[in-house]
Amino acid sequence: MTTLSGQTAIISGGLGDIGSAIALELAKQGADIAIGDLLDDNKSEQLIAEIESHGRQCIYHRVDVSDAEAVESWVADVETRLNVPSLIIPNAAIITIADVRNITPAQWNRELRINLDGAFYLAHASVKRLLHLNRPGRVVFVGSWAAHAPHATIPAYSTAKAGLRMLCKCMALELAPFHILVNEIAPGYVDAGLTGKIFDNNPGSRESSRKRVPVRELITAEEVAQQVAYLCSPENRHMTGTTLLMDGGLSLLTSGMEHHGK
Ligand SMILES: NC(=O)c1ccc[n+]([C@@H]2O[C@H](COP(=O)([O-])OP(=O)(O)OC[C@H]3O[C@@H](n4cnc5c(N)ncnc54)[C@H](O)[C@@H]3O)[C@@H](O)[C@H]2O)c1
Repeated sequence: MTTLSGQTAIISGGLGDIGSAIALELAKQGADIAIGDLLDDNKSEQLIAEIESHGRQCIYHRVDVSDAEAVESWVADVETRLNVPSLIIPNAAIITIADVRNITPAQWNRELRINLDGAFYLAHASVKRLLHLNRPGRVVFVGSWAAHAPHATIPAYSTAKAGLRMLCKCMALELAPFHILVNEIAPGYVDAGLTGKIFDNNPGSRESSRKRVPVRELITAEEVAQQVAYLCSPENRHMTGTTLLMDGGLSLLTSGMEHHGK
């Protein structure tokens, strides 16, 4: 009997680096897994096989989180094929590198629709089912330290993630009496996924970013997944409406007052 056995996790953006690490970690801890992403079905085969090798079930849906109806059908289908999802992980996101002078309204809208509306649609559709069945659950939004410090080059991303923080708190307050705990994880520079791609495309940026972090370390996707698993675990009985900020101190840096260590 493992910590999360009997539970079903639903993870958007589950074929991305952090999403797949979360899927694997929750499966190792005993949960069955439903992943959703935009990618073709064949891109899910390896992850499904790995999760099944841990004795857990895993199903994949192609779903665009910015389509509320598609998300609702996804949640309903997961309930039919596995169980009602009790571990809800809105994780899908994109990033547009364009400051306010350059970003277009279409880019702004797309980013907010995926990163903020999409997270709401998954949490909303899943939580409604839990409430209907009178079941407890956990929501863990995947936010970012970008909601904790202004980022001039990624205003849409930072704004969406800041919105997620407040959504997390509002939902946590409403759902606490129903034993549904709602939290957010906010990683700093993860050497994978969205930031990993930026590092790959900008020679030298991986190392300069690592040096900028006060603890001088980049984060792995697996480390993010372990913290998500903690927020989902029975050991966490009291944290709700909080942000688990794991950024190595990045958000402590302020313009003109940077950390000048070794
Ligand atoms: N990588 C980092 O440094 C970092 C830091 C802080 C927070 N995060 C957050 O971690 C989460 C995962 O990002 P990642 O770094 O693993 O990136 P990633 O690109 O590897 O994963 C994101 C996944 O979301 C999917 N996706 C994009 N739009 C979608 C849509 N409309 N519907 C469904 N799926 C969609 C993509 O196909 C992709 O598989 C995001 O919320 C991101 O903001 C990442």
